[in-house]
Amino acid sequence: MITNLPKHVAIIMDGNGRWAKNRGLNRVKGHERGAEVVREITTAASDIGIKFLTLYAFSTENWKRPKMEVEFLMKLLDRYLKNELPIYMKENVKFETVGDLSKFSKTLQKTIQHIKNKTKNNSGLTQILALNYGSRDEIIRAIKKLNENHEDINEQNLEKYLDSANFGDVDLLIRTSGEVRVSNFLLWQIAYAEMVFTDTLWPDFNKDEFYDILKEYGNRDRRFGGV
Ligand code: FPP
Repeated sequence: MITNLPKHVAIIMDGNGRWAKNRGLNRVKGHERGAEVVREITTAASDIGIKFLTLYAFSTENWKRPKMEVEFLMKLLDRYLKNELPIYMKENVKFETVGDLSKFSKTLQKTIQHIKNKTKNNSGLTQILALNYGSRDEIIRAIKKLNENHEDINEQNLEKYLDSANFGDVDLLIRTSGEVRVSNFLLWQIAYAEMVFTDTLWPDFNKDEFYDILKEYGNRDRRFGGV
């Protein structure tokens, strides 16, 4: 029995490349296996009753990777979303995104929109993929909107214009692969998040470890600056 479930879990899915390299495989094989883990963890989060799961799938910096890897990730994403639709429907999962989608191909944008439309009335877990996402970019875009609309600069108004406006603050941030940094991910939203860093590479991450981390979270004492 897991008590004190976090409402919003965010994950930096890191280590796909190293997982593949350790096996003498091409990096993209790690991403392929990583996509299967995305499915396993999404189902696990949905089954246990988490409301929001944000996954860092492609950062604003990831365009710097070799062209072949970027193209592979785009195709993998398109294929993943199309295959996933029956699972989203069965699990009552709503699909959402954060990030600037305008840089993706029209085909991928269409797939993303299609899956959002189909799942928009699902009321269980919301799975949010961070796509072409960078937290600084998100905050700047929000400030520009505040400015255009001549609104007061305060926390409430700014939050309205963040991509994450409907999902709120992150309660628990997990990063795999042993790196201990937040890499421009949800900087505003993790202000009071609990953080867990695990050495496990993302393709080796699984439901059991995820539930162990949720148990650890449940035992932490969150004071939000109070005593
Ligand atoms: C980090 O591993 C992972 C990414 C840059 C992208 C995350 C993508 C996936 C988990 C697969 C596709 C996702 C979906 C939703 C279909 P890395 O390549 O930086 O690993 P390394 O640090 O070991 O090189």
